[in-house]
Amino acid sequence: MTWMGVQDALARSPEVAFRGRLRFSFDAMPLVADGLSLSKRLNLMRCGVDALLPAGRAFGLPPAIQIEPTNVCNLRCPLCPTGSGSSRRKSGFMPLGTFRQIIRELEDALVSVILYGWGEPFLNRDLAQMIRHCSERGILTATSTNGHFLQSVEQALRVVDAGLRAIVIAVDGSSQQTYEVYRKSGSVQKAQRCAAMIEEAKARRNSPIPYTNLRAVATRGNEQDLANLEQLAREMGVNMFSFKSLGGLSQAEDLEDYMPLDPHLRRYEYRGQVRQRKASVQCPYPFRQPTVFWDGTIVGCEFDYDLEAPWGDSASSLSTGYGTAGRRSGCVAPFAADRDAPASAPAAPTRIAPPIAACCTAWSCARPPDDRHEELGGDF
Ligand SMILES: C[S@@+](CC[C@H](N)C(=O)[O-])C[C@H]1O[C@@H](n2cnc3c(N)ncnc32)[C@H](O)[C@@H]1O
Ligand code: SF4
Repeated sequence: MTWMGVQDALARSPEVAFRGRLRFSFDAMPLVADGLSLSKRLNLMRCGVDALLPAGRAFGLPPAIQIEPTNVCNLRCPLCPTGSGSSRRKSGFMPLGTFRQIIRELEDALVSVILYGWGEPFLNRDLAQMIRHCSERGILTATSTNGHFLQSVEQALRVVDAGLRAIVIAVDGSSQQTYEVYRKSGSVQKAQRCAAMIEEAKARRNSPIPYTNLRAVATRGNEQDLANLEQLAREMGVNMFSFKSLGGLSQAEDLEDYMPLDPHLRRYEYRGQVRQRKASVQCPYPFRQPTVFWDGTIVGCEFDYDLEAPWGDSASSLSTGYGTAGRRSGCVAPFAADRDAPASAPAAPTRIAPPIAACCTAWSCARPPDDRHEELGGDF
């Protein structure tokens, strides 16, 4: 989210403090949180102070959180820990009660909830209720889907009526042939139909939301197809077309087989045979957007998908244990220090460095300049 950095925090402070409004983006999608309560404004201010302090304790509670409705999926994407079958976590679905407990714990701080993890969120039958629960409390929601379980306008209306703000729909090819290179077991027709149903439901309700982002993960199988996909997105009337560079989510040995040939579409740069991160940054996620997996386990970042360094095992750890578990000195600092090591180096024996250093696709390497998103318009 763009408001995580120091400069952003400073630039947005007056609007947050005096108007109760925060403009930010999630995955390049523009979002606006309006009517923020005093407690949320104060928490954002605390987060701003945290951003200015070089180290120490995090005073603010997370204003955003990623919650995994399920880690079960119908597709077999080869570089996803779930799709590849390499994940070591148990599979399951978050009960609505757990979800409500997490929201209750953080309600006074939360601005947005990201509703997906390592699975297909629409497989959780309570997803629309989770979205509605957040909307009723002034909390924005965004999700990402492979589209296969949203196939009728009635299903789409439930999501629109629940107040979902933004949705990424994974359509990785304009034809079944290019689509299924990465989205194994998937149907391009279903993925496209999902986007069409959401647009249809928005039109029926005369609603500008959810903001729709037709998204492809750029691979060798679809790199020649991205222009067709962009054209398709325009024809479908979605709000955005984007493509995202491929990451080695499951540390699969066959990453290179899927890597696009065009170096501009790649996320990594190479020094000889060594895959090298492109940038060194201090990650804000553990303090600003931690993740809760379906069973209530909290991790500093979604990329700790095999629970190398869980922070706690219940929602209450987030607010009661946050100050201790989230100390920068114990968590982010060593993790940041490890960032300059080449990806092939052995992981440092730090608390959260190993999982994140090994597979982070958000920060451990800069997005290549050609990672692209194109706003296509609409009334949003
Ligand atoms: C793990 S998926 C879960 C949500 C849903 N099942 C989906 O595919 O959209 C979350 C995001 O990761 C993206 N993704 C999957 N494999 C990826 C990879 N190897 N590199 C980068 N992003 C990837 C998906 O396209 C999606 O936007
Ligand atoms: S659809 Fe999403 S969760 Fe399922 S295997 Fe593919 S990337 Fe993973």
